[in-house]
Amino acid sequence: MIRQLILTEDGSHTIFVPEMGEHYHSVHGAMQESLHIFIQHGFNQIQAKELSILEIGFGTGLNALLTLLISNADNKPVIYETWEKFPLSSEEIRKLNYPEILKCERSLYNSLHQAAWEINVPITPIFTLRKIESDILNFHSDRIFDLVYFDAFGPDFQPELWTAEVFSKIAACQRKGSRLVTYSAKGQVRRNLREAGYMVEKAPGPPGKREITIAIKT
Ligand SMILES: C[S@@+](CC[C@H](N)C(=O)[O-])C[C@H]1O[C@@H](n2cnc3c(N)ncnc32)[C@H](O)[C@@H]1O
Repeated sequence: MIRQLILTEDGSHTIFVPEMGEHYHSVHGAMQESLHIFIQHGFNQIQAKELSILEIGFGTGLNALLTLLISNADNKPVIYETWEKFPLSSEEIRKLNYPEILKCERSLYNSLHQAAWEINVPITPIFTLRKIESDILNFHSDRIFDLVYFDAFGPDFQPELWTAEVFSKIAACQRKGSRLVTYSAKGQVRRNLREAGYMVEKAPGPPGKREITIAIKT
């Protein structure tokens, strides 16, 4: 798959996949988008002393890095499981400017990418990562997740990933009242989430996006 490095409007990088016409993040600001959707409307809304998070689509590791930094700042232990079918190469990762923008050691960012797949890897004393290299269509887990970051490519490009069937498998790993956040506000996505057992709410989107979706397990 050909992938290109792109500079977004807030100065942070994203990746563009020409054959799909899809970006990994908003061109209006990758960092800004991840902070708004997954940290502000996700992580910051959970009151638990420690958190179990599931991410669909590890990609650049931006969501994981932001979560790691905030978990360390808040002293809130996190177990972070993430699924990815098409991992980036070390050459692609080396070019991404997230550690510079976030003023953190590049070695910390690298440790997320270099962590072995399929096992629990402590990245810091309070942040443990488990990366699964697989298609989310195969999703299953023995864990219960307090929070889900659903960050696959868009439903217009990968409709098979945004189905009630996939959401139901995820919902089965969440307790009543737990949260799933995603950038997509598409009607069909919301209907599929409802069918899978979530109550669906709207929230304002980051710049360039009117709304995002917050789903609460019922
Ligand atoms: C919109 S990007 C976001 C990635 C990541 N959260 C980030 O901040 O860079 C979508 C990600 O989903 C991954 N992906 C696409 N299809 C997948 C599938 N069937 N199973 C698992 N991951 C998939 C892509 O490779 C890509 O990394």
